[in-house]
Amino acid sequence: MNSKNADDILRMQDLYKRFGGVAAVNGCTLGVRKGSITGLIGPNGSGKTTLFNLISGHLRPDAGRIFLKGRIIVGRAPSAIVRKGLARTFQVIRVFGQMTALENLLVCGEGEGTREKALALLDRVGLLPYRDEYAASFSYGMQKLLEFVRILMVDPEVILLDEPAAGVNPTMRRTLWAMVRELQAEGKTFFIIEHDIPVIVDLCEQVYVLDHGEVIAQGAPAEIQRDEQVIEAYFGR
Ligand SMILES: Nc1ncnc2c1ncn2[C@@H]1O[C@H](COP(=O)(O)OP(=O)(O)OP(=O)(O)O)[C@@H](O)[C@H]1O
Ligand SMILES: [Mg+2]
Repeated sequence: MNSKNADDILRMQDLYKRFGGVAAVNGCTLGVRKGSITGLIGPNGSGKTTLFNLISGHLRPDAGRIFLKGRIIVGRAPSAIVRKGLARTFQVIRVFGQMTALENLLVCGEGEGTREKALALLDRVGLLPYRDEYAASFSYGMQKLLEFVRILMVDPEVILLDEPAAGVNPTMRRTLWAMVRELQAEGKTFFIIEHDIPVIVDLCEQVYVLDHGEVIAQGAPAEIQRDEQVIEAYFGR
């Protein structure tokens, strides 16, 4: 079972999170292999973002365990989880509009070389020419890229992306996905929520499918696409 794999840098076991009458995450067990790009898909409201919120410490599970590099992280503050090597972006962008692009990165770094690192990251996604412009003046796609490179300032080993390409134009999407591949080649691990199935097929070695808070399928993208339950969850109702 992949979920019990010793190579999993991130592991979730029997996770539950309920909002009133809604079982948003309903007994999820998943593993993300070190160095992989792992996908998380599922219909709207299936619990994907809630699962990310549980992992990043923004929500506390009602039950279950989460291991990062073999250590339990449930109950840790988001900032502590970042220090342990896991960073994430949000479905709803969180950049500081009243700061410049460069300042958005500088506030996330510390120590010597911070400025050089920030400039290099902006350069990698084509934002260097706009470094002194306010983030609020950026297009939606530029803000998404900015949020992405900002979390790289802390050198995370595991990176969670919640629909990073949604609403982003094709050129910037290509930049984003190329950067994800480069970072994977550098050893980073990704866990990505994405609705664009061709992108998932292209990028991911392993995909989990959520429906009503439960993992209804897992495996290589090609297997998932043929799974009856998955087809039913997406198109059946
Ligand atoms: N803070 C909250 N309070 C109450 N209900 C919530 C809260 N967050 C999520 N939910 C509910 O939990 C369920 C799962 O929501 P979640 O946002 O995790 O789904 P999702 O798979 O990310 O959906 P989408 O694809 O639309 O982003 C939904 O029914 C949602 O309404
Ligand atoms: Mg979501």
